[in-house]
Amino acid sequence: MTSKERADDVDHALDKPASARAYGWILGGKDNYEVDRQSVLDAVQGFPQCVDIARQNREFLYRAVRYLVQDAGITQFIDLGCGLPTSNNVHQVAQALNPDARVVYVDIDPIVLAHGRALLAKNKATTVITADMREPETILDHPDAQRLIDFSEPVAVLFLSVVHHLKDTDQIGHGPRHTLRHIIDSVAAPGSYLAVSQIVADDPQIGAAMSAQIDGDGVPWQTRTPAEFAALLDGLDPVEPGLVNLTDWRPDPSQPSLDPVPLPLHPYVGATETRPGIYEYGGVLRKP
Ligand SMILES: C[S@@+](CC[C@H](N)C(=O)[O-])C[C@H]1O[C@@H](n2cnc3c(N)ncnc32)[C@H](O)[C@@H]1O
Repeated sequence: MTSKERADDVDHALDKPASARAYGWILGGKDNYEVDRQSVLDAVQGFPQCVDIARQNREFLYRAVRYLVQDAGITQFIDLGCGLPTSNNVHQVAQALNPDARVVYVDIDPIVLAHGRALLAKNKATTVITADMREPETILDHPDAQRLIDFSEPVAVLFLSVVHHLKDTDQIGHGPRHTLRHIIDSVAAPGSYLAVSQIVADDPQIGAAMSAQIDGDGVPWQTRTPAEFAALLDGLDPVEPGLVNLTDWRPDPSQPSLDPVPLPLHPYVGATETRPGIYEYGGVLRKP
């Protein structure tokens, strides 16, 4: 199946939950269906931490992009598995700090392109590509990526809350390591950055149960341990404080707040404090 056929498959599968729409609902978004909301409600029965975790990841996105523009001087971004537009999207955070910042958004779900187009209609420095991140070569060949990204200059490659969608057993592409590392290792200039996160479980058995539930619901999923995740990132230099629970990555209580949590999810807010063994793990790493 080609990337285009896979995207069409996602588009027409409204009887299956989609990660972009389910995650968007947790962030307070309106573009989702009953099947997406139900998959979240199913997941939080066993794993109530999912609500906090999704929102903590999105808060990390803001801090990571701000760091990359302000402290690292990055002006070009490729955001793989970007999700539906919400408040403080990558281009909005980056361009508020540096109007010259350019962003290539990539997502497998065509609904992201449909919503992104409206948001980006007047923004020539930003584009949305419908593609499968497991085929990074296709993304690099895309004319919009070639127009907006100058690979002789450092670039930031973002894989935020997407690595759990990359299964070790996946038959598409060349495995999670190739997906994560091809652009940064083979194409990006030294001084480029990878910003990356995934849901991890300290206890591998709990992680396996979580994978079985979410993957069984139709969303490709592999919860890893922190060590399994870190092993995918060897050879890159993590900036302070390294790979951590994202709540510990340069926390900033005064950062902009997210849209409100939808009412049916209120009972699960705060679950990461009472059940801390599952969390979103990641950080920002520099290519030496
Ligand atoms: C949990 S959301 C994360 C959104 C955003 N990166 C963030 O951190 O706020 C995961 C996104 O990855 C996308 N995705 C999953 N598998 C993908 C693939 N193989 N290629 C491209 N996008 C993918 C989903 O459609 C979804 O929009």
